[in-house]
Amino acid sequence: ALAAQDNNYENTVTNIAHRGSSGHAPENTIAAYDLAFEQKADYIEIDVQMTEDGELVSIHDTTVDRTTDGTGSVGDFTLEELQNLDAGSWFDSSFAGEKIPTVEEILDRYRGKIGILVELKSPELYPGIEEKLADALIERNLDKPNNNKIIVQSFNHDSVKRFHNIIPSMPVGVLVGHGQADNGEITDEHLEQYAKYADYVNPNKSLLDQDTVDRIHHRALKTWPYTIVDEEWVDLLMDYGVDGIITDYPELMDFR
Ligand code: G3P
Ligand code: CA
Repeated sequence: ALAAQDNNYENTVTNIAHRGSSGHAPENTIAAYDLAFEQKADYIEIDVQMTEDGELVSIHDTTVDRTTDGTGSVGDFTLEELQNLDAGSWFDSSFAGEKIPTVEEILDRYRGKIGILVELKSPELYPGIEEKLADALIERNLDKPNNNKIIVQSFNHDSVKRFHNIIPSMPVGVLVGHGQADNGEITDEHLEQYAKYADYVNPNKSLLDQDTVDRIHHRALKTWPYTIVDEEWVDLLMDYGVDGIITDYPELMDFR
């Protein structure tokens, strides 16, 4: 038999491509998601918002200004208007013509091939977005436990609860930034609340230390910190025993 590898990492750690392989291709486009798939990431992370005509699309900012050639709020565009924008050129001219994808397109293209970590981005701006997402999943029979590796998360924990109540069988996560933490601490009181409905606590990496990871695991929750862009952080977080790494550079995890 092969000798065990000389490292401390006995369990595999999930490799999540943040907004796709966004270090190499324009975030939240098919180009970035395809690249993550080619790089053998375990999941793509996608940021989801809603158009004026009620379609779910993948874009990070609440305006199109930074990542397209247009200006204005995502929710003021129809899907057709949004998809006339160029979502690739801002990153590099070789990506000219990349479009803002719809969630349905993403589900149909990647289901069963790579996991999908769906972030409901600023859901307070889009009443009904949880139901829309649930409908798209149910329509495709993706609303089953241990399904096709689809997880829903948000910084808006009321939205996570709302989605959880619509499809209790699907795994959900709470995103925790400094705004959700208590003076830089994820407290036991926070974790007690999260454990009532969530499966994942996905924090800003700077909120983790050994004790916090241990307390998360003690509640039988998993933790996938964001956003990792270098090996030093991969090493530190893996020493703590995190369950996944949300990264712009999926190749950082190639040694697994
Ligand atoms: O998945 C976690 C991470 O994406 C949250 O931050 O701003 O990149 O959406 P942000
Ligand atoms: Ca995100």
